Amino acid sequence: VILVDGKARKSLPATDRGLHYGDGVFTTLAVRDGKACWLDAHLERLRAGCHRLGIPAPEEVVLRRDVEAVLEGEGNAVVKLIITRGSGGRGYAPPEPVTPRRIALRYPLPDHPLAYAEQGVRLRIADARLAINPRLAGIKHLNRLEQVLARAEWDASATDIPEALMLDAKGRLIEGTMTNLFVAAEGVLMTPDLRECGVEGVMRRVIIDEVQAQGMAIQIQELYPDILATVDELFVANSVNGIWPVIACGEYRYHPGRLTRRLQQATGLCD
Ligand SMILES: Cc1ncc(COP(=O)(O)O)c(C=O)c1O
Repeated sequence: VILVDGKARKSLPATDRGLHYGDGVFTTLAVRDGKACWLDAHLERLRAGCHRLGIPAPEEVVLRRDVEAVLEGEGNAVVKLIITRGSGGRGYAPPEPVTPRRIALRYPLPDHPLAYAEQGVRLRIADARLAINPRLAGIKHLNRLEQVLARAEWDASATDIPEALMLDAKGRLIEGTMTNLFVAAEGVLMTPDLRECGVEGVMRRVIIDEVQAQGMAIQIQELYPDILATVDELFVANSVNGIWPVIACGEYRYHPGRLTRRLQQATGLCD
């Protein structure tokens, strides 16, 4: 099911700047038992992304209506919301005035094996690197070619490796292709600083808030791949799949630890 500006459509104008320049933002959220999980946080990230790009953000109430409408009463689904700067002429200059375009799509929930959350996942390290770009860092904009290249490097079903970690151009660990990364050493939880690249995930925010609500510290800092040799626990997380403990990354092996299990329980798959 696809809605364009709130109406059922199968296509959009070929002049859309989302297609030409990746000029827009998106978010992907889970709907479970009729509840759109962490919807407020998804809408807030869309709003912040539009603000950063200078796109007039559609009213929140309109986006909530799109979510309702695209669900058509379906209680379990993935909803993707895209906002583009709308149509424009040839050339980069933003059109005047801008009429943003909203696209809402519904998909089935992913059928990842339960074992990913219960027993953990194996990861690889992608060859593709993330570019340094503080002006775009954090937001979920539509330019995702780095993730597309990284994801094309391996066959997940043949290898049973569902995710790869990505380094940036300076060789720092940043995130997974579709997840944020957390590591723990001697009881201290750490997650990469995303001021120069990476997406600030809704689940990352949920986890940070939960850790702080439990009175624990979390360090948001630069992490380099050599830390993989010394950490006790590693997990990746996004708002659709929740937390996946990591049992292997390259040559290193891990066990799902107490901290990971506690956060899996505390955050669940929906707010
Ligand atoms: C590149 C990237 N980083 C992080 C995330 C996690 O984001 P969220 O927790 O909002 O689902 C995603 C989600 O798809 C992503 O594509």
